[in-house]
Amino acid sequence: MRVNEDTVLRGHKVLLVPYEPHHVPRYHEWMKSEELQKLTASEPLTLEQEYEMQRSWREDGDKCTFIILERGRWDGGCPEDQCMVGDVNLFMVDPENPSLAEIEIMIAEPMSRGRGFGEEAVRLMLYYGATTLGVSTFQAKIGQDNITSVRLFNRLHFKEVSYSSVFQEMTLHWEVTEAERRWLLDSVHVTLEPYREMKASNGHAD
Ligand SMILES: CC(C)(COP(=O)(O)OP(=O)(O)OC[C@H]1O[C@@H](n2cnc3c(N)ncnc32)[C@H](O)[C@@H]1OP(=O)(O)O)[C@@H](O)C(=O)NCCC(=O)NCCS
Repeated sequence: MRVNEDTVLRGHKVLLVPYEPHHVPRYHEWMKSEELQKLTASEPLTLEQEYEMQRSWREDGDKCTFIILERGRWDGGCPEDQCMVGDVNLFMVDPENPSLAEIEIMIAEPMSRGRGFGEEAVRLMLYYGATTLGVSTFQAKIGQDNITSVRLFNRLHFKEVSYSSVFQEMTLHWEVTEAERRWLLDSVHVTLEPYREMKASNGHAD
């Protein structure tokens, strides 16, 4: 979608930035990993298909995606592609109605896992989805063996609502009730800023 095309969500450990064409080569390298293909239920794509996918994430109104940058590296002046650690997406289950959205998270770089980046990126996306996009129920589908991911979503108050023995996958939901919304707002540390300005102010302009 175009809503977040110039939006940065700045947290403690990570920055969420809009997915741009210059991110695609690194993203494509990540997705050559069979482990990541399996864990994210993704098919391998050619580089051209990956650019096409980036365009569709930008243009289609039912998809919102951010690239996750490691904030410490960015603040230290590293080139953007060397700050990239993963991505986080929302997909509106009914394109006509933003109330139910599926969330997907990937920390692609193994060295970047177990440092709280995944949890903060999901928290920031929940904030953005609930406050800006009008999402009232978030859904996550997780392979039953992906213990790290299940624990992460449980920490963020997601509850299992169904299980598919065919796909060996559980579906979890987080409902944005008034109490849960307050919990999120109290527990998230975030500032929003324009992407172009952020890049320019750090000497990272294209
Ligand atoms: C699942 C995934 C998103 C988790 O991301 P992550 O950044 O590693 O997650 P976090 O660091 O926030 O949490 C992972 C663990 O590190 C721990 N941790 C976080 N910060 C820490 C720190 N500073 N010191 C020590 N441990 C820490 C967390 O407590 C958590 O422990 P637990 O698994 O025992 O509960 C990531 O491993 C991934 O992308 N895997 C591949 C793709 C995938 O599985 N995607 C999900 C599909 S549903």
